[in-house]
Amino acid sequence: MPRHINALYGASLLLGVSMLAAQAQMVEPTIVPEAPVFDAQGDVTFVGRNDLYEFGSLPEYHEPDWVTANYVDKGLLPPVAERLPPEPMIFKAATMPDGIGEYGDTLRHVIGGRPEGWNWWAGQNHGWGGVEYGLWECLTRTGPLFAVKAEELEPLPNLAQSWEWSEDGHQLTMHLVQGVKWSDGDPFDSEDIMFFWNDHILDSNVAPQGGATREAFGSNTNLEALDANTIRWTFAEVRPELMLYEMSFGRMCPGPSHVLKPQHPKYNSENTYEEYKNAFPPEYLAFPTLGAWVVADYRPEDIIVLRRNPYYWKVDEAGNQLPYLDEVQYKLSTWADRTIQTVAGSGDWSNMEQPQEYVESLRRSAEATAPARLEFGPRIIGWSLELNFGTEGWGDPDERELAVRELNRNLDFRKAVTHGLDRQAIGDSLVRGPFAAIYPGGLYPNTVYYDRESTVYYPFSVETAKAHLEKAGLVDTDGDGYVNFPAGIAGGANVEIALMASNEIGPDRTLSEAVIAQMETIGLRVIADPTQGSVGASRGDSGLFDWRVRRVEREFNTVIQDSSRLAPVGPRTSYWHRAGPDDNLDLLPFEQELVDIVKAFQVEPDAAERVALMQRWQRIFTENVYSVGLSNVPGALIINKRLRNVLPGTPILAFQWAEDSAMRERMFAPKAEQGDYELLAGTLAGF
Ligand code: GLA
Ligand code: CA
Repeated sequence: MPRHINALYGASLLLGVSMLAAQAQMVEPTIVPEAPVFDAQGDVTFVGRNDLYEFGSLPEYHEPDWVTANYVDKGLLPPVAERLPPEPMIFKAATMPDGIGEYGDTLRHVIGGRPEGWNWWAGQNHGWGGVEYGLWECLTRTGPLFAVKAEELEPLPNLAQSWEWSEDGHQLTMHLVQGVKWSDGDPFDSEDIMFFWNDHILDSNVAPQGGATREAFGSNTNLEALDANTIRWTFAEVRPELMLYEMSFGRMCPGPSHVLKPQHPKYNSENTYEEYKNAFPPEYLAFPTLGAWVVADYRPEDIIVLRRNPYYWKVDEAGNQLPYLDEVQYKLSTWADRTIQTVAGSGDWSNMEQPQEYVESLRRSAEATAPARLEFGPRIIGWSLELNFGTEGWGDPDERELAVRELNRNLDFRKAVTHGLDRQAIGDSLVRGPFAAIYPGGLYPNTVYYDRESTVYYPFSVETAKAHLEKAGLVDTDGDGYVNFPAGIAGGANVEIALMASNEIGPDRTLSEAVIAQMETIGLRVIADPTQGSVGASRGDSGLFDWRVRRVEREFNTVIQDSSRLAPVGPRTSYWHRAGPDDNLDLLPFEQELVDIVKAFQVEPDAAERVALMQRWQRIFTENVYSVGLSNVPGALIINKRLRNVLPGTPILAFQWAEDSAMRERMFAPKAEQGDYELLAGTLAGF
């Protein structure tokens, strides 16, 4: 179509373009349309913050008979009571939907990721889908908070059993659970925490998974060990209670210093940082964990098998050491297959998050013979187009890349992009029906802090989009249908933008194709830049993108979990605006406003004031199209019917993914319904 216009206007092109813009029917920003009504949502029964578990000692402890027979009786392991801490974490039966469980059986996961190795602290992921949640434990825990009464909302204790603030509010002292052991029997203590802090978070040669940067914990925060079981945080801020959320998964989950330290370059002059990162490849079995399960086998492109951790430090009220499930499997396949297998009964668990699967899965799960339960939750899955704002050296941009980043920072340009998107069509390309909502960006509708009145929406209008391109100085000077850079920039060539998106993940690919086609209509040339994996995380984290499609997670949903992602509060907390090597950030005025709001929010004790702050945040964010919302959908948790103790209404994602929220360590299958799925029955990893 742009070609056609140029042909028509011929020689009067230069004049003609601006006349076109002036005459065009300009569309004004407005309030976002209501999301379609969708009420297949499970009801949560809320519990008090202390109702789920407590710490204490019990008169006796139990373990599966085969552990006693095969390991304890043979002298390979001490008795269970000696392996547990003096005061283990005790899960209360009253808040277990199906009560005290029975040992045995296997949890069969299917994942689309692939493990890079086990060095989470040096930046490796393990293929996602809950592998990580099953291995690492963190100072606090937030997954189950979706079921905690709003008035008692505060992160749950975990490795930090309790904590107190100093009188002036600058210090937080945390008491670690005493006597916890790694899965190989080595004691866990504050040394593990300090090694993570000093030699990973504070060591700029290392980029831990989960965005564990110093500034994620506040500005200039310090951490020290007072003794083996006590650590103390010192904050510049007064009582930054939201930091307790940052200390949950995946920021403050220590690794086994007794295994990691000998490989760390600071303690091993023979290793480079790259060698350190790769010192524990997926084939490295029985890597020590604090989680419920330990890696026992790995077969590339096939499966990861985990077995129960004989040193796990959690029990039920009857003194049974958790977990109930002896084995966890992760079949290495695709994310789409996760849902297919779970619905069919050959897998046990899916966070259904790819809208293309919804209609068929709903249909099959409604049948009486369906092997799995399917429960939809609110609209907490969404995708945005993120435009790289980094002009300070992040990812070492060349001239063209820098010119694109300057454009990304131009509000008229971003308005052109957002007006150019037909979000109704985008939603329909994902799934028909009441699922997809028009999503202008910012907080998700149906979440606590969302306020529709504060959400600025730039409706679809090709004409308006084109007018904004021109306002941004972009005109098709050579008449090939695509706007060019102004003469002095990038040689006046066509603007060409690479759009990074996963080509393995259905919705990401569909969305990126839709964006490319719709930008073509407004005369902006966007080219696919396919990547592998969930979010192309590592390349994205290195700043090597112009634009990208990303599934946006917790920060737009709970706000208080990962609040440091809501604005560039530090050099490396934002997903699309990070500093270069000198840590300098050139913030636009509206970004500075967002930073100020987030920092105020993080220490605001008054609930009503917090709501007001987030309304301002939402207005500034959406008015400035800080990231470009694409679509927003509900997700459904699908779990095989033989598995018990899953809280009703468990969302696939709230404070954490469902693999944490559902508390898998207390899930079980009744003996009579257990499957014959164990691959490594009767064995433990590493003994
Ligand atoms: C991936 C999946 C999610 C969830 C997480 C857990 O991101 O897409 O559904 O399983 O892993 O980390
Ligand atoms: Ca051109």
